[in-house]
Amino acid sequence: MSFVYKADPVRGAEWAEFFARKMPDMPFHIWPDVGDARDVRYLAAWQPPANLMTDFPNLEVLFCTGAGIDHLDLSVVPDAIPIVRMVETGIVSGMVEYVTLAVLSIHRDWKTYLEQQRERDWTAHRVRPASSRRVGVLGLGSLGRAVLPRLQSFGFSCAGWSRFPQQMDGVDCYAGADEMGAFLKRTDILICLVPLTDSTRGILDKRLFDALPRGAAVINVGRGGHLVQDDLLQALNDGTLSYAVVDVCEPEPLPRHHPFWTHPKVTLTPHIASMTQPETAVEAVVANIRRLKEGSPMIGLVDSARGY
Ligand code: GLV
Repeated sequence: MSFVYKADPVRGAEWAEFFARKMPDMPFHIWPDVGDARDVRYLAAWQPPANLMTDFPNLEVLFCTGAGIDHLDLSVVPDAIPIVRMVETGIVSGMVEYVTLAVLSIHRDWKTYLEQQRERDWTAHRVRPASSRRVGVLGLGSLGRAVLPRLQSFGFSCAGWSRFPQQMDGVDCYAGADEMGAFLKRTDILICLVPLTDSTRGILDKRLFDALPRGAAVINVGRGGHLVQDDLLQALNDGTLSYAVVDVCEPEPLPRHHPFWTHPKVTLTPHIASMTQPETAVEAVVANIRRLKEGSPMIGLVDSARGY
């Protein structure tokens, strides 16, 4: 039985080290070295090879090295092979940091002060209490649920929306298409953390922006496919929205001539909101292999019909 890692080779070398400590009896290979392909039971990949089952005829689990699996071509993965997304504490902490930074920078007018400093302009703007700012998280998966308590700790008024009803202490929870309008209406800073599926592609569009209070801000840390870029530009230019933080784009990298690069109301980062961390990723993968062996459900198991 062996394990193959097929993603960023630099981080792969770190995976190998942690893996050897956690599961010393399991041979670990970094693609394109796969050892004896017939021994490979577990593959961790950002993008599996096109001939997955001919390359690895005895594969038992495909671990995706990312939190999202929307980029995977699921047609190369037979139904019998479970796909497991990365649910690990390193990704969660990174996302909590980034979203906190983005929300606070909007809340405290950070971009304005950076520009003012360049102009040697000593103008103070009123500081609004966090309790007067309504933050809303679209998507209450492991990331959305981790971000909200941190934002709550600053005193923001917090709400979340999910497909199916959920509950969280101190968070106004909305669910389903019927409650989306009410959720948007009370949201001054919207954070997109839903998975990208056929039903969420293009969800950040004119209709959604128009449903937010005028002058709201949007943070997209989901996927580029969630955002209708022209609708965002229009909304920023006509004042429907006041600001956007964009970490994910379609395509990536964003072409050099794209207006987001220079737009005064956009902060753009190159898909770095969060990254899988080798140590905690290995912990999550090893724990899942142990669960599988004991017959317990693996954490992060993808439901292919649902798309996440
Ligand atoms: C990165 O975006 C990931 O899915 O982990």
